[in-house]
Amino acid sequence: MRTSSVFTVSCTLLVSYIHNVAAALNCSKAAFVPHLPANTTILSATVVASNGSYGGGSQDKDFPKSATGLPALCAVQLHVNQEHSSYMVGVFLPSNATYNGRFMTTGNTGFGGGINWPAMGTFVQYGFASMSTGSGHNSGAGDASWAINNTEALTDWGYRAMHGSVVVAKEIVAAYYGSSAQYSYYSACSGGGRQGLKEVQLYPEDFDGVVAGSPPWWLTHLHTWVVQIGMWNLPESGKNRIPPYMFLPIKHEIYRQCDPQDGQTDGIISDPYSCNFSSAALACSSTNSTNCLHPAALDTLNTLYSDWRDPSGNFLFPPFALGADYSGLTKSTSAPSGFGTDFVADMVMNDANWNWTTFNTSIVEKADRLNPGGANADDFDLSSFQSRGGKLIHYHGLSDSLIPAGSSILFREKVAEAMRSTSLDDFYRMFLIPGMGHCRNSDLAPWYIAGGGQTIASSSHSVPGFSDAQHDVVLAIMDWVEKGDAPDSLIATKFLDDKDSTKVVNQRPICAYPSQAQYVGSGNMNESSNWACQAGKSISIPEAKLGH
Ligand SMILES: *[C@@H]1O[C@H](CO)[C@@H](O)[C@H](O)[C@H]1NC(C)=O
Ligand SMILES: *[C@@H]1O[C@H](CO)[C@@H](O)[C@H](O)[C@H]1NC(C)=O
Ligand SMILES: *[C@@H]1O[C@H](CO)[C@@H](O)[C@H](O)[C@H]1NC(C)=O
Ligand SMILES: *[C@@H]1O[C@H](CO)[C@@H](O)[C@H](O)[C@H]1NC(C)=O
Ligand SMILES: *[C@@H]1O[C@H](CO)[C@@H](O)[C@H](O)[C@H]1NC(C)=O
Ligand SMILES: *[C@@H]1O[C@H](CO)[C@@H](O)[C@H](O)[C@H]1NC(C)=O
Ligand SMILES: *[C@@H]1O[C@H](CO)[C@@H](O)[C@H](O)[C@H]1NC(C)=O
Ligand SMILES: *[C@@H]1O[C@H](CO)[C@@H](O)[C@H](O)[C@H]1NC(C)=O
Ligand SMILES: *[C@@H]1O[C@H](CO)[C@@H](O)[C@H](O)[C@H]1NC(C)=O
Ligand SMILES: *[C@@H]1O[C@H](CO)[C@@H](O)[C@H](O)[C@H]1NC(C)=O
Repeated sequence: MRTSSVFTVSCTLLVSYIHNVAAALNCSKAAFVPHLPANTTILSATVVASNGSYGGGSQDKDFPKSATGLPALCAVQLHVNQEHSSYMVGVFLPSNATYNGRFMTTGNTGFGGGINWPAMGTFVQYGFASMSTGSGHNSGAGDASWAINNTEALTDWGYRAMHGSVVVAKEIVAAYYGSSAQYSYYSACSGGGRQGLKEVQLYPEDFDGVVAGSPPWWLTHLHTWVVQIGMWNLPESGKNRIPPYMFLPIKHEIYRQCDPQDGQTDGIISDPYSCNFSSAALACSSTNSTNCLHPAALDTLNTLYSDWRDPSGNFLFPPFALGADYSGLTKSTSAPSGFGTDFVADMVMNDANWNWTTFNTSIVEKADRLNPGGANADDFDLSSFQSRGGKLIHYHGLSDSLIPAGSSILFREKVAEAMRSTSLDDFYRMFLIPGMGHCRNSDLAPWYIAGGGQTIASSSHSVPGFSDAQHDVVLAIMDWVEKGDAPDSLIATKFLDDKDSTKVVNQRPICAYPSQAQYVGSGNMNESSNWACQAGKSISIPEAKLGH
């Protein structure tokens, strides 16, 4: 494509052009070796034919499923060796015919370690050369036991393996295609959202655009909060316990009160933070003692939906938004969720036998002092990323019942505080998705934006029928970076049963925070064109909703 001008460019350019072309490689271990630093070991380079599959199988504990229906590509696996630890890297290199000239990195989940082949497979469908780091250990998302006595692996998981993998993968991409990728992106949700924020904070040069979904950026407070809410609702607390069968009636009552308050009674709580909710409607009365809450349990409900504070009243963590559901993290009759206790035992106390009955808020201080793996993404001054032209899209489901959406609002507030004189919207926009759970899914609300970990069974990638920057967050970040088109809204889609990509049930704009979608007053409410973004007011976290 550049041949016509080759003879007019300067000698230096001509030389580098020839050099680049000559550097293009075939898909074999031998071809890559000379291009890799000495501290890497290439394990395999595999030619995958069109419509083929590739993955790590059951050996990859975090992502045992293969990527399927792949375009023709070269799959590379390698190992980066450091003095005291090592990590795996996986790279998919699509053939020249599919390659879009861009590099996309995806992330991991929870405490897990392993190469995320399925997400790499999704991104390679767009034409990206895609990469995932194994993050330095091999475990499922809920297993943190590897962290005991293993601070090096913790650091790899916290941020180090991601950056090192990005550096090596960019070299592989440049060597394979004969020139560096034109643009580098990141998209992932949950633990992967946190990894994306760490990259923005520590290695602003790594990516031109980052999409970070539902990030547990404040691990030391999130996981300890999970221990605390579990303890508040154990049977040992007797009358305080909210009986498991009450969580559905509680949800119904929250929807009954909060759904109409956002202007439309549509089964979607669009603005939980403006809802005036009274839990008194759930109280048992002298004539009714079934399907209701006795005073002590009502107190627990109010406590659960309030800010968590230490004994001196200092804010520790925000609650779930109204409409998110506590049952998943508080249903156990014998112990708080391992999502909380495993973090404290394996990453903070370094003691698998740590007894959660000894938990109190002093453990939060200890966790903060240690900041295991340096994993908290709490360096809020993003000016290096901003000044190199980086763009950040951050999203969170308001019905997230694993990581409170309020923690994302708090993150943005902290960034605004740290970068006082800056208009964040120039480089950082946040989208709160009403009704969406943790990274994906909803009862009724449109949620699908082709974000990290979002899949529709009948489609390989993007938003079928709506493969554009309005509907697909990956295309949105590309447009923002490459054309300067900043997204004022994203249109979320709900497909039939969240499975059938041929049937759209509902679409609605998700407006850049703090603006909110409002129904224009006529037309089908399930069509996005009948909604418009209107100015909204920023929420202030901490903001106890159901205080005492
Ligand atoms: C892919 O493109 C590069 C750079 O243009 C070229 O050197 C290489 O031969 C091409 N590979 C194939 C298999 O066509
Ligand atoms: C691939 O490249 C390697 C290293 O340059 C070379 O030894 C090998 O013969 C090549 N294989 C094919 C099939 O071209
Ligand atoms: C792709 O592979 C799948 C599973 O191996 C197979 O069912 C399908 O028919 C193949 N599609 C094409 C177009 O070859
Ligand atoms: C591997 O070696 C390269 C080149 O010497 C160096 O830049 C890089 O930091 C090393 N990576 C790790 C993870 O040690
Ligand atoms: C961690 O190290 C301590 C001190 O060496 C040792 O007592 C303990 O058994 C180790 N724990 C694990 C799980 O390896
Ligand atoms: C909630 O109550 C406050 C104070 O009474 C009122 O200003 C506000 O409009 C109410 N919000 C909604 C959504 O009804
Ligand atoms: C008892 O109160 C609860 C909570 O207000 C309500 O859902 C339920 O329908 C009431 N039952 C009867 C029999 O009135
Ligand atoms: C944890 O501590 C409680 C209270 O002291 C005790 O009853 C329980 O047996 C301990 N659990 C374990 C596994 O040691
Ligand atoms: C928390 O627990 C530790 C050890 O279990 C104890 O020393 C400390 O006094 C407790 N702090 C509070 C605030 O209860
Ligand atoms: C609108 O979407 C909801 C699901 O969100 C669905 O139940 C309803 O049938 C749809 N209405 C129309 C008119 O399509």
